[in-house]
Amino acid sequence: MKIVFWFGGVAALILTGFMLFTAGWERPPIESAQTGFRGTGMVEINNPRVDPPRLEAQLAQVPDMSPLPPDTPGPSAGDIYQNVQVLGDLSVVRFNRVMQSMASWIYPEQGCAGCHNLNNLADDSKYQYRVARRMIQMTQTVNSQWASHVGATGVTCYTCHRGQAVPQYTWFNADPANTAADGLTGWRNGQNRATEQVGLTSMPEDPFTEQLEDSGQIRVIGDTALPMPGEVGTSIQTTEQTYALMMHMSTSLNVTCTYCHNSRNFGSWDQSTPQRVTSWYGIQMAQNLNTEYVAPLSSELPPHRLGPTGEGQKINCETCHQGVNKPLGGLQMAEQYPSLLGPSGGTQVSSLSDQDVEAALAAVELSDTE
Ligand code: HEC
Ligand code: HEC
Ligand code: HEC
Ligand code: HEC
Repeated sequence: MKIVFWFGGVAALILTGFMLFTAGWERPPIESAQTGFRGTGMVEINNPRVDPPRLEAQLAQVPDMSPLPPDTPGPSAGDIYQNVQVLGDLSVVRFNRVMQSMASWIYPEQGCAGCHNLNNLADDSKYQYRVARRMIQMTQTVNSQWASHVGATGVTCYTCHRGQAVPQYTWFNADPANTAADGLTGWRNGQNRATEQVGLTSMPEDPFTEQLEDSGQIRVIGDTALPMPGEVGTSIQTTEQTYALMMHMSTSLNVTCTYCHNSRNFGSWDQSTPQRVTSWYGIQMAQNLNTEYVAPLSSELPPHRLGPTGEGQKINCETCHQGVNKPLGGLQMAEQYPSLLGPSGGTQVSSLSDQDVEAALAAVELSDTE
């Protein structure tokens, strides 16, 4: 009797020790915020001690913006300067303000010399100058064509660059050597390396080439119980890449899966939050930016900027979001730079009509598995 009691005590001690020192237990304070319907368990749980709020720190670093000067009539930048191809319609005052801001957003140390040959500002021989011109067009595209994702908040160069020549969070197409046979350990198939990008799991380390550059499938199960002739099923590889991408999306926004999904049915759009729809546009947008702008720019970049496949660094959710659900907490910065809102300072319009949106969502709905 005594021995049984003694054993019980030891067992209880060991179990308590386990609880205290294993991953599932965290010292308070635990904060929770409800994001879905009551009773669905859709809450964001955060521990400010373990994961201190990063938004305040990010906002404190935003460089000062000089107030937007009135658009004075008179000669435009295109009339005065020799080699202005994108921002030519701007008044000279506004043009110089954009130049100054670009210097503080991307090259705070080098300043104008980051992009320019200071002896001749019209000289476009520096690759940084040519990349910057294309980046201005890319930023205009995001703000004018992708309001479905960026809303009225939009983006500026600072959203991604944050005072650095190359944004902090980017990705390279994975080294093909990682998918090849790998000596004694066999075929690694591009996974089992626990990279930061996919939350230190053994998931495929590069879900991005397929899903944020090519328009690969983002599915975990097929649409029918058995594979049907002529139907594209969902492979284990695709499933793993889907989960890897989901890990990336969660870390980029610092949210859990239930920010977008009701975990009783991950596939169902009806039970998902509006944020999942926003994310769906975000995926299409990232594909668009990587294929139309970033990948083609690889030919401009010097060799030390190129990755294992000979292409430059690309955009994923973290490039803009940097651990916050709305980049910079939704700071209204782009509206201070009308020239970045669209070609010739355009107004923000979504190029997608309501009908386009419905058709696109219906197409996704059809392949939903209920
Ligand atoms: C991030 C790169 C970048 C930085 C930094 C930058 N510029 Fe520029 N600059 C450009 C690009 C790109 C153009 C061409 C714009 C176009 O085609 O519409 C340009 C054009 C110009 C022109 C027109 C030259 C001509 O005759 O064609 C002037 C003047 C100029 N910049 C001044 C400045 C000054 C002054 C600074 C520093 C305060 C600066 N720039 C910082 C990228 C940059
Ligand atoms: C959506 C994110 C994003 C936005 C917005 C963005 N950039 Fe970039 N930019 C990138 C990425 C990613 C690279 C890295 C390409 C590489 O070097 O491999 C880059 C590289 C550059 C470079 C080359 C840096 C170097 O030294 O190699 C310049 C210059 C640049 N961007 C200018 C701009 C300007 C100017 C703007 C705003 C008009 C802008 N960018 C907006 C993502 C962005
Ligand atoms: C920021 C929003 C967001 C977060 C967070 C998120 N997802 Fe997703 N998820 C999506 C979107 C959008 C799709 C649909 C992509 C498509 O159809 O092109 C999707 C698709 C999926 C699918 C495929 C469903 C199908 O039809 O086969 C699964 C499974 C999934 N997510 C699981 C997860 C898991 C697990 C997590 C947490 C680790 C997670 N998601 C976090 C937005 C999100
Ligand atoms: C070019 C920069 C950029 C990229 C890349 C980007 N986002 Fe966003 N995202 C934004 C901006 C800006 C907003 C704020 C929109 C607003 O204020 O309405 C936003 C908003 C969101 C929201 C809504 C947040 C909320 O609480 O309402 C979600 C969800 C989201 N993004 C998910 C994603 C996912 C997932 C990806 C990658 C597939 C992604 N984003 C890539 C710029 C970006």
